[in-house]
Amino acid sequence: MNVAALIGSPVGHSLSPAIHRAAFDAAGVDWSYVSFDVQPGRADAALDAMRTLGIAGLSVTTPHKEQVADCVDGLAQAAAALRSVNTVVVENDGRLVGHSTDGHGFIASLEAEGISICGIHVAVLGAGPAARSIVSALDRAGAGSIVVINRTPSKGENVVAVAPITARAGGPDATGDLVKADLIVNATSVGFDTDELPLDPAALRLEHLVADLVYHPLDTALLRAARNVGARTFDGLGMLVYQAALQQHLWLGQMPDVGVMRAAAESELARRPTTIDS
Ligand code: ATR
Repeated sequence: MNVAALIGSPVGHSLSPAIHRAAFDAAGVDWSYVSFDVQPGRADAALDAMRTLGIAGLSVTTPHKEQVADCVDGLAQAAAALRSVNTVVVENDGRLVGHSTDGHGFIASLEAEGISICGIHVAVLGAGPAARSIVSALDRAGAGSIVVINRTPSKGENVVAVAPITARAGGPDATGDLVKADLIVNATSVGFDTDELPLDPAALRLEHLVADLVYHPLDTALLRAARNVGARTFDGLGMLVYQAALQQHLWLGQMPDVGVMRAAAESELARRPTTIDS
């Protein structure tokens, strides 16, 4: 039996155990997945425990992604660029190597829907860790241009710094920046358990591709507004499922069944109450 684990705090609401277990079961592999609530600042001890206990793969979530990047024995390219790790792999020689599958997971979820990133113009809303990983991955995937639009401009500049040639911070005319984009990505938390929109819906066009990283609710106000103008939409489970699928690819050397993973995430979400009044 191989054990994979999630470390974070809190971890109680994570969809990762359901997603990973469903894929292990479907593949018929002898792997299990458990989660550990690890207090902030204790990621180094968790990595020692991983070595001691022989844990075969680790998922890392808030607040440990940066500390794990400082404690592993090596970093793959995306994780090194971000100094952030969401996946730890045990190499054959026992070294622990940190990877970041978040941004690539987002790109892979779009590519699975037939979207090619090469040369497209992207507007990213938000400047948290999710925005940073997506901007870095969009840049590596050959996006033509990226504009980062954020409530706090200085944080937007920090995100632009991960892709200084391709990305720029949005100007005062956010609507103008949005209208010119091929793909709009909501990487803010706006829409999480509310009907708020992260942008002025007047900026939305039929030609837009609109992706929301918020997945609770799954059908956000932004996605509904985008569909209302005929735009094509992508919900927040795409990135979540694909970043997990890429983790399993790293641990097992084979791609899991992403359809099974998505179905597990959907049924887990369906069990959760939504707090929106409407
Ligand atoms: P993550 O990327 O993991 O979701 P986060 O730090 O929670 O990380 O990111 C939240 C993002 O949503 C931030 O960019 C935040 O904007 P600020 O940088 O100005 O804080 C954005 N955000 C949160 N609430 C918002 C709101 N009501 N309006 C606009 N942006 C908001």
